[in-house]
Amino acid sequence: MVKGPSDISSGKNPFVVSKSSHIPGKAIVETPGLVFGDPSWPVRKAGMLMTLTESGIELASALGIELVVAHHPIADAANSGGVPLRNYLGLYRIAAIELHEAFHGLHPGIPYLHGHRAFRVDVAYGGVPGNILFVGKPLEDVNRLGDMVERLARFMNYEEEERLLDAERDIRRVRELWETSVAVRAKVLAGDPNSQVGTVLHIFPHTGFTVEHLERAKAEHPEATTVLATISRVPVDHALVAKARELGMHFVVGNSHAVELFENWLPLSYALRDLLPEVEYFVLRERVSATRLEDTGNESIRQYASQMADRYLLKKA
Ligand SMILES: [Fe+2]
Ligand SMILES: [Fe+2]
Repeated sequence: MVKGPSDISSGKNPFVVSKSSHIPGKAIVETPGLVFGDPSWPVRKAGMLMTLTESGIELASALGIELVVAHHPIADAANSGGVPLRNYLGLYRIAAIELHEAFHGLHPGIPYLHGHRAFRVDVAYGGVPGNILFVGKPLEDVNRLGDMVERLARFMNYEEEERLLDAERDIRRVRELWETSVAVRAKVLAGDPNSQVGTVLHIFPHTGFTVEHLERAKAEHPEATTVLATISRVPVDHALVAKARELGMHFVVGNSHAVELFENWLPLSYALRDLLPEVEYFVLRERVSATRLEDTGNESIRQYASQMADRYLLKKA
C-alpha cells in the first residue's frame, strides 16, 4: 500500500501504475492506499464497493459510513460526480481507500467459483502486463460444461436476480427492462452443456488476450479442451470463439464484471472484519438497469423532459 506521496513518486511500488489509453487528459495513476482522508480519522462504519460513484457517495453519507474501500482506481471528479473528490468527500467527511491491481492474485477464488483449480497463473501472458491466463483442472464435481454454468448460477443467485427483475418489470409495468447480471449470465458459446470439461484455459478478453495467444496456449497445453472467458466476454461470432472451434475446443463465458463484487470484494470484506471486528461493514452493490427512453420515468417526468428539450435545448436563444 502507498503510505504517502513519496511512495507514489519513488517508482518503488510496482502497483503504482498509470492506466492510459493515450486519450488526452484521461490517464489515471493507481495509488493503492488511502486516497482521501486522514489516517487519524475514526472508522466505525466502512462501505465496501467496486467503483466509487456519486450514488455510492450519497448512500455512504446517508448510512453514516466514514470510510469507503473501492476496488477500482479512483479518479478525481470522475468518481465523484464531476466535482473534486476533496469537495464532495470532504463535505460528507468520508475517507476513501482504493485497492486494485495490488489485490488481484491474492486468492484463487475466481477459478474456484468457475469450477477449476489453476495449476498455472501467468499475469503477463505473451509479455503483455495484466494479460492474465489461468490454466486449471476441473474440480471433482465439475464434469460437464453445464456443471460450470449451474455452479455459477448457484453462487451468483441467478434465480433471485431474475425474480427481482420480474418484480421490477411488474411494478414499473414495463416488459422491456434489462439488468446487467441477468443480461450477461454465464453460457456455453461453443460445445453443449453435456460436453466434458477438461483442462481449462481461463482468459480475460479485456486484458488483451488475442487469437495468437490462444494458439500458443493450446500448443503449450495440448490437453486443454475448454476456453473460459470471464470478467469481460466475447460474442459468439468473435475470432476467439472461431479459433477455439478450429482447435477443437469448447468455449464458455462465465461471470461478468458486474459480479466482481462477490468474487473479490466479499472475500476482502470478510478478511477486514476479522482484522478489525470493531468496524461495522456494509456492501454497496451497484445494480444497473435499462429501459427504452419512452418507458423511462413516469408521465410527469417525461412531460418535464420533453418540455425542457423543446423550449430550451432545441431552440436558439
Ligand atoms: Fe478486479
Ligand atoms: Fe474489476
